[in-house]
Amino acid sequence: MKYTVAIAALLLSACAPAQVASTGEAPVAAPEKTATYATLTGEKPIIIAHRGASGLYPEHTILAYQTAIDQGADFIEPDLVMTKDGVLITRHDPYLSDTTNVADHPEFADRKVKRVTPMGEKEDWWVDDFTLAEIKTLKARQQFATRNMELNDQLDIVTFDEVMDLALQAAAEGKTVGLHIEAKWPGYYSSVGLDMVDPIIEGMKAKGLKEAGIPVFIQSFEPEFLAAFAAKSALPTIQNMVGEPYASMMGVTYDLETLETAGVGAEKSFILKEDGTTTDFVDRAHAQGLLVHVYTVRDDQPLKGYADAQAELTALIGAGVDGIWVDYPETGVAVRDAH
Ligand code: G3P
Ligand code: CA
Repeated sequence: MKYTVAIAALLLSACAPAQVASTGEAPVAAPEKTATYATLTGEKPIIIAHRGASGLYPEHTILAYQTAIDQGADFIEPDLVMTKDGVLITRHDPYLSDTTNVADHPEFADRKVKRVTPMGEKEDWWVDDFTLAEIKTLKARQQFATRNMELNDQLDIVTFDEVMDLALQAAAEGKTVGLHIEAKWPGYYSSVGLDMVDPIIEGMKAKGLKEAGIPVFIQSFEPEFLAAFAAKSALPTIQNMVGEPYASMMGVTYDLETLETAGVGAEKSFILKEDGTTTDFVDRAHAQGLLVHVYTVRDDQPLKGYADAQAELTALIGAGVDGIWVDYPETGVAVRDAH
């Protein structure tokens, strides 16, 4: 399903507030902002809080998501994996060692097992070997050594239901925030009897996201999952595209002309070149009616060739991208709104 202006209108929020003159005379309204965006719809690009405000707090925690909402993110992003008893929870990885304290739980020591994954063999604790009740005995951790560790081992692992509750609560308080939902390794989960399509759809229905006006995108790196999802739902889907060297390692290539999703989720190297110029990727995708969402801009890890995250964001917005995943939503919103 290609993207339409009607959907865009539903997703995007209003414009800048009026300003007050500093002359001491009667306040006058600032001129309407005249900036235009080279997005597919001409509307401003969305800022997607990547795993919540994950630059500030352990990713995929209520604190990280709520901070992103408070900082004005248009969407928060839950990555979804599945427990042994079929519950969708928010983790980036299908294993637990990088972002939880599972290694400190002796009762789970014998759950550490080797598996062969598309990225190679790995010994770890795997989410689908745990029930939700067991997952709920764990606490979240910051995975990047250079980031704040002070809240390690204090914050709960969050279910998909709990993220939806957060968005519903924000909507009830008058603040619409969308959900940019990624199904992680859905082919694997399906192969062990934990198909994700129906639980995601039924979960959203049960929570009443549509009735509450919560915008939703569904994303995945796996086209089979997106096709299966689209067969059962009209929600816009985003085909994630991995950059190099992983694309070559995985043997994947992408053909913009044959994609049937609403858009693509492109690694930023598809667009940003190290000499500071940009590729024609966005134009080619837009020519096919595809939205371009781009991952991931991080204040503390700027891309080679760019002075800082602001420079990356400015270049991406100039190239016409329709959405940007950011670890620091405050920065993303500020640069986007200053455009
Ligand atoms: O899902 C696209 C974006 O979030 C980047 O991918 O690996 O951080 O989930 P990842
Ligand atoms: Ca993701």
